Order: sequence, then structure tokens, then C-alpha cells
Amino acid sequence: MKKILSKVSKISGKPIIPGDKSISHRGLILGALATGTSEVIDILEGEDVQSTAKCLELLGVEIKKSGNKTFIKGIGDKAHFKSDLVLDCGNSGTTMRVMMGVLAGMPITATLTGDSSLIKRPMKRVSAPLLQMGAQFKLTNENFAPLEVHGTKLHGIQYDLKIASAQIKTAIMMAALRAEGETTITGEIGSRDHTERLLPHFGVHLSVTEEKITVRGGQSLKANIVKIPGDPSTAAFWIGAASILPDSDIEMANISLNPTRIGFMQALKRMGAQIEFEETESHPEPVGKIRVKFKELSGGEITKEEVPSLIDEIPLIAILATQARGTTIVRGAEELRVKESDRLLAVATNLQKMGCEIEIYPDGFKIEGPQKLHGATIETFNDHRIAMAFSIAALVASGETTILDAECVAVSYPNFYETLTELSK
Ligand code: S3P
Repeated sequence: MKKILSKVSKISGKPIIPGDKSISHRGLILGALATGTSEVIDILEGEDVQSTAKCLELLGVEIKKSGNKTFIKGIGDKAHFKSDLVLDCGNSGTTMRVMMGVLAGMPITATLTGDSSLIKRPMKRVSAPLLQMGAQFKLTNENFAPLEVHGTKLHGIQYDLKIASAQIKTAIMMAALRAEGETTITGEIGSRDHTERLLPHFGVHLSVTEEKITVRGGQSLKANIVKIPGDPSTAAFWIGAASILPDSDIEMANISLNPTRIGFMQALKRMGAQIEFEETESHPEPVGKIRVKFKELSGGEITKEEVPSLIDEIPLIAILATQARGTTIVRGAEELRVKESDRLLAVATNLQKMGCEIEIYPDGFKIEGPQKLHGATIETFNDHRIAMAFSIAALVASGETTILDAECVAVSYPNFYETLTELSK
């Protein structure tokens, strides 16, 4: 589906932001492993989370929906999933990587596969630590899906994580739960911490410090209720749009304000944006209200250290940088090369099509603003965040912008275009 968009004068309103994608995946998976029936409230209806739900259902987990509640009948710690299945993870890296950790210690075999994007994404980063725990995998060309998991007995390890990835960290923690002995993860553990927050919510004892995470094997999970807050990476599109369209005013309630997820808001504030937030709940995830009013942006610098806290928002930051006064530099973001698309390439290609000058590095970019954008045909590479970031660019560009394969937004925000129309009325 093509989406044709034009300039708007402002956006305003109080959009309801769909559930957080990362917490939704984890709620389903932890619920599936627990003893008893868990309840996930306000789960994200996006395709990625549906991929996790479908895999779990195939594996024998009963999942039922009623209104905004999803009930998951867990298998309990002594049981295991069904064997010999092919699990299609669709476009979802989180599904595949976390399930590698979940399945590695169960006495079953499974094949994990995905769409044309997911089978190009690196998986050795997950199989490598799990192999050290005793796991057995067969990867395509030693790094990719389709991949086979041959579940086996695992043992705890000490692992020094070199990539700040919550997906790898979570996979190790999931495997550690079924391993003998203790597993310690050190190194780059500062990525999103939803698993660290949710496991204790399901009755697991963890030790988490700034330096290391320690998980004792053989612990059981007990069913619980998980309320999913709005996804800050989704709210980011409206925060960004309101910060480049004069007279805009947006208010959003019930958004996750988890400190490992709000790097985008903090970076934008440094660039001069008028963003206020107020925490209304704190457990197990900080949640609150956000209000954004237009205020002209200046350029800003994003460093390697803060990249994990705004990793999914970087394509949007590039769009905002074109409208900000001065230089914006992003470095240390080489992980963007291996997301749903090569997001640095996708940003550079499409911004150049819109008439923007951008200097691209192996791990980031530099943009001098403000620059005038003109409408163009946007190649989304079937990447939801590229489609949405360039839809925001279209709102300030002259002429018409055509977003190709715009249906890919359904991965994380099925109602994105309906909400955009509402807010720009
Ligand atoms: C996610 C972690 C991030 C993020 C992805 C979701 C998660 O990936 O980009 O959208 O739910 O753990 P990495 O942890 O690989 O950086």
C-alpha cells in the first residue's frame, strides 16, 4: 500500500498510545512459562507481538483474549513446550532472539524462521553465549535464520556482553532460568531493563547492579497481572512532529517513562524542545503523562553512551535534525545497520531524495539544519520505523510525499495513519 502525505500546519490532540512492544513480548513469554494463568492488560496489537503469541500457541500455550485482557495459561517450570515445530517469527527480532534463550534449555527441537528482513539479521550474537551454556544450535551460514534449536541441559556462565542489546541480555537470562548454577552477565548491560523488572514480578529472584546481573538457575515463575503502558518509542513520533510544527500541542497519558527508554525525550529537551512529563505510577514500570508544545529546536549531539536509550528513535532524530538550527551529530549507532533494515542507509537514501544534505558515517550521521525538504517517493525497506519517521518528514515537506509499503507500520503501530489524520485535522 502506498500512502500519499502532504504538509500540515500543526498537530494537536490527546492520542492514545498503543502498548509497549518490548513489554508486551515479555508479558506473553513470561506468562507462558509461569505456573498459573497470567493476565496481560492493554497488550500491543501489532504484528510483532502477534508473532510471539502465534509461536507460543503453536508450542502448546493457551492464549485467550477478552476485551483489553489477554490470558495466558503457563506451562509451569517442570513442563516443556511441544517439539519438532517450525516457528515463524515474522519480522520480529525480539521474538526470535528471546525464544532462542527460552527453548535452549528445554528437551525439544524447533526451527525458528522469519520474513526476508529477519533472516538477514545476525543471530550468532545470541547463539554464542548460549553455546557457552551448553546449548546446541544450527544456524544458516553460522549466523542466520532459519536456525535449529536442539534443546539440552544448560549450565550457568559468566558472560561479558559486548553489544548493548536487550534482546541478547534477555535471551541469556531466559536460558539462565533453566540452567544449573548461576549465570552472571557483565559489560554492556545498560539497555532497556524490562526483563529485569518483570522477572521479579513473576516471582524470580535476581540480583541487578550497574555492573552485573546474576540469575540463579532452577527458579519457578508464578503467574501475575501485567499492565502494559504506552510505548515511548511510538509516542516519540508525535513528540517529534509537535516539535517541528509551529503551534502544535500534544498530550499523552499512560506512557512508559522507564529511564532506559526516555533517551529520546532527554536528547530533544537538550535540543530545546518543550516536553514536560509527570510520573503517575512507578511499579513495575514508571508510567506517566507527557505534554509537548512546539518550540524551535537547535542541533544536538547524541553519544555512544546514550544510544541504547533511544536506539529505535534515531531515524526520527535525523528527520528532526533537518528542521533544527545548527549541527546534529549521532555517533556510536552502528547497531542501526542490523535493525529491520539498514536504518542509516535508509535515512540517508530517503533524506537525499527529499533534497537534504546529510553526511553519513559507519556508525551515525551529521546534519546541518534547518534544511527545506521536498516531497519524494520514500523507500521504506518494509521497516515500520522508517515508514513512520518519513511520514513525519512529509508533514514539513513541500509537495507530496509517497510512502511505499506503508502497511509495514502495523508491526508496531497499526493505527498510525488514522491517528495522524486525527491529529492534523
Ligand atoms: C528490543 C530491543 C532493541 C530494540 C527492539 C526491541 C527488545 O533491540 O531495537 O526494537 O524488546 O528487547 P536490541 O536490544 O537488539 O538493541
